[in-house]
Amino acid sequence: MNAGRLGQAILILIHLAISHKRKTVIRIAKRKILVTAALPYANGPLHLGHIRSTYLPADIYTRFQELFGNDVVYICASDEHGTPIVAAAEKAKKKPGEFAKGFHDKDEKEFKQLGFRMDIFHRTSSPENRELTQKFFENAKKAGVIYTKDVEQAYCEKDRRFLPDRFVVGTCPYCKSEKQYSDYCDGCGKALASGEILNPKCLVCGTTPVTKTTKHYFFKLSTLSEKLAGWLKGNPKLQKEVVNYVMDWIDKGLNDWDISRDLDWGVPIPREKSLVFYVWFDAPICYVSSTKAWADKHGKKWEDYWKSKDAERVHFIGKDIIYHHFLFWPAMLTVAGENFQLPTAIPTRGYLNLEARKFSKSKNWFVSLEDFLKEFPPDYLRYYETAITPYSVVDADFVWKDFQQKINNELVANVGNFVNRTLVLIKKLNEGKVPRGKIEAKLEDAIRKAKEEIGKDAEGFEFRNGLEKVLALSSEFNKHLSEKEPWKEKDKVKCDECLYSATRGLTAIAVLLWPYLPFTSERIFEMLGIDRKQIRWENVEKELLKPGTQIGEVKPLFEKVTDEKIKAQEAKLVR
Ligand code: MSP
Ligand code: ZN
Repeated sequence: MNAGRLGQAILILIHLAISHKRKTVIRIAKRKILVTAALPYANGPLHLGHIRSTYLPADIYTRFQELFGNDVVYICASDEHGTPIVAAAEKAKKKPGEFAKGFHDKDEKEFKQLGFRMDIFHRTSSPENRELTQKFFENAKKAGVIYTKDVEQAYCEKDRRFLPDRFVVGTCPYCKSEKQYSDYCDGCGKALASGEILNPKCLVCGTTPVTKTTKHYFFKLSTLSEKLAGWLKGNPKLQKEVVNYVMDWIDKGLNDWDISRDLDWGVPIPREKSLVFYVWFDAPICYVSSTKAWADKHGKKWEDYWKSKDAERVHFIGKDIIYHHFLFWPAMLTVAGENFQLPTAIPTRGYLNLEARKFSKSKNWFVSLEDFLKEFPPDYLRYYETAITPYSVVDADFVWKDFQQKINNELVANVGNFVNRTLVLIKKLNEGKVPRGKIEAKLEDAIRKAKEEIGKDAEGFEFRNGLEKVLALSSEFNKHLSEKEPWKEKDKVKCDECLYSATRGLTAIAVLLWPYLPFTSERIFEMLGIDRKQIRWENVEKELLKPGTQIGEVKPLFEKVTDEKIKAQEAKLVR
């Protein structure tokens, strides 16, 4: 081959390589990911527990996917139906819809304050949800899984109405606690079967109810056992520990599901005068209706998320609603027809207790989100709850002293210290200008490795592990400063190198922190004078601060949580 031909051959090869690269670039399509968080009941204030299992993990996941550049939508809504809401509204002398709207607005505001970037916060009482619920029902009927049966039901002759679960109060047959709902005893935590409660009374007027028969609609869950088992076993993205005990329920035999209630608040059952759907029938359907409401507004197609094999549907929940999400919901989707797809993953987390006891509003053992946010920055809650929440159904305990320690000794002492130290040193040693230099290879590797592992943790819903790695990276950079002691360095070039490396750690940590602590991350960017649009995954290891950039005013990133503040919070809990 002569030189000319060789040159030509090389050119062709280069051309091929480039066009091949182009093709691969084109082929990497954005993933379509629909994220949902269990819909909060609109009958009481949000507390720290709701955030821990459900809304915060969903937000962190959504933010990671956004950082990765995927097409992600975060859906939520108020769950407004159900007897507890009707009962609570009656007590408050309000109409159920009006009562629920109050909590809907409050929840929405508090979610925003915590930085949750939900794309829509809809309502189960919306027209979209009514329509879609009735459609799901008609399709389930066509699939042959709906039947009717007469059931015995408490009835108040004075109010002339049926009294579903929460409308009958009485004495617990087990622990003798009085004024308990007929389906659940708050005194001993037992679920009560219908008819079990002693001395039953109508919640509204106090009359002793009689028993009457009424027609109810049932969903044949039992016939879908095999299909559900196949889906549970064949889907590696579902949590093993959860699948195990759902399989145990299936093995013991599933009961058919009563999907109707004698109420006038809810989605009406077609062709019935006084029956509405049970709240757990229309609530998950609102994941779909909310997607539709969002899509209609933004010129998108909701079907792309629900009826496409390429899209992913990820439902974040707490452990008390496993049955509903691992059995009812996939069963409903299975008979919905129209190419509806099953959930991709259902990340489930355990409960949060408060200083070793259950959260209870009535017993005043409670920290509402509103009260927390009056005293502490939102990122403190995001940090603490992520730090105590593994990807598992184990419970955790919110302890004020532990909260204080974790914030002060980890967040403030590690991240806060590193950010502050780096910027103060640049002010002192280089007139506030980012110095020229090259990042130390060891530190560059540390950033790359952290990025890779934190990304994997995020895909695997292991947010606690990921956050620990951000902190470890920050420790490594703190160590770098302590060991190099740039303030003692006589050689200006070495001093510059050391500080320059630190700035690379700073921007890497700021990007990596964003899904966890968005307020903090954005404040660091602001202090550095970098546009927040630069918060992108591919920028973790990039030079975002050019040498010569003037650093603005340096303010401490965090404030320590004082003993007084903790004591004041502890004093609010009356033991
Ligand atoms: N409305 C239903 C969900 C319907 S989804 C189609 C519901 N609402 S809830 O307000 O009771 O709970 C909302 C979320 O918070 C659920 O995921 C629930 O598991 C979670 N938690 C409620 N109390 C909790 C703790 N104390 N700790 C952790 N999570 C908690 O369930
Ligand atoms: Zn009891």
